[in-house]
Amino acid sequence: MSENSDYDVKFYNLSREERLAQLKKEVDLSESDLAVLSGARGLSADEADHMIENVIGTFSLPLGIARYFKVNGRDVSIPMVIEEPSVVAGASFMAKLALPTGGFFAESDPPEMIGQMQVLDLPDPTLAKDRLLAEKDGLLAEAAEVDPVLMKLGGGPRDLEFRVISESPIGPFLVVHLIYDVRDAMGANAVNTAVERLAPRVERITGGRVLLRILSNLADRRLARARVTIRTADLAFNDFSGEAVRNGIIEASAFAAADPYRAATHNKGIMNGIDPVVIATGNDWRAIEAGAHVYAARDGRYQSLTTWGKDRDGNLVGTLELPMAVGIVGGATQVHPGAKTNLKLMGVTKASELAEVIVSVGLAQNLAALRALATEGIQRGHMGLHARQVAVAAGAEGTIIDQLADRLVADRIIRIDHAREVLEEWSRSKDE
Ligand code: MEV
Repeated sequence: MSENSDYDVKFYNLSREERLAQLKKEVDLSESDLAVLSGARGLSADEADHMIENVIGTFSLPLGIARYFKVNGRDVSIPMVIEEPSVVAGASFMAKLALPTGGFFAESDPPEMIGQMQVLDLPDPTLAKDRLLAEKDGLLAEAAEVDPVLMKLGGGPRDLEFRVISESPIGPFLVVHLIYDVRDAMGANAVNTAVERLAPRVERITGGRVLLRILSNLADRRLARARVTIRTADLAFNDFSGEAVRNGIIEASAFAAADPYRAATHNKGIMNGIDPVVIATGNDWRAIEAGAHVYAARDGRYQSLTTWGKDRDGNLVGTLELPMAVGIVGGATQVHPGAKTNLKLMGVTKASELAEVIVSVGLAQNLAALRALATEGIQRGHMGLHARQVAVAAGAEGTIIDQLADRLVADRIIRIDHAREVLEEWSRSKDE
């Protein structure tokens, strides 16, 4: 689709119908895909009923498209499911700033997940570990029998690792990690099935008792990382020079590196970019959140997930690395019509490619937040969009929404009581 992306078209200024038509021009989307994206044919209550328990209906969120993303040389439209204003615009704007230097460069590790087994009642956990090590080939061979399809695709068990927990409230125990390549799946089902299958054999070999058998969300063998370079001059806006913006971003990132109170908010801003794409593609965003935050604390202190500095030419350079256990097969990715269509829209054909796009969006989102915070502050950009939400909440409809939002911004009072007053004032003057 790269050659078809028309960035001269101001997507933001188009109507919803025109935006869909533009995407259709760029990507081979059918009428039924467009119906799914528009919400006319989203997840039905019947489909939802097969996904979870006690279903009574569905719950919608806005689906926006971030533009201008180039990831590893490929232009990609980014579907983002999110309720928060400014996020889609912020990501798009930063992606545009990155275009002159080639956009985002991302890579990811092999899709290896970790399945854990907690082995208890061992008089000598280290001896148990040695016994398991001696039987490693047999254990891996048994794990390989669990999912012949995955094996055919080149996935399956890769290794066993052992960790002795010597001190705990229940005394020492052994943890066995099964390293399992899940290819294009998120992998929870494959890994959980494999460790459940291995547990009796682990008990026979060790004489112990296997209690927990479950995947770890610290998917630190499946990291994705992105890098972006922004020319300093491109950072200049209003009265802010490019140098001032660049230096402010670097100083802001030092704050997040040093202080967990700031790092939490900084990383939340990164997840503002990541979660919406994870959700839009039917992936498990709680798993991604859990992995991100424990990875941020991997050195025993909670830190920023990104780094910002400058290169030899003075350009701003940012990097982001975190676990990215996302799939394009299995789970909701192929059941939810929106997820399927969003994957098609992005043109990703491998889970690793999806991970690389997602981590790029996270980096862009962090940049958008830091650029605003280090200059005019976050509220200014938020104001117009927030005013629209307040206008809708106050009861405005159709074209009145924008008129009322403009008035709230002009009055510098973005509150629902004021919005209602203005609406009443307008309705009185219409009656007169
Ligand atoms: C708000 O949703 C996200 C920010 O707080 C992120 C940050 O502070 O870096 C603006």
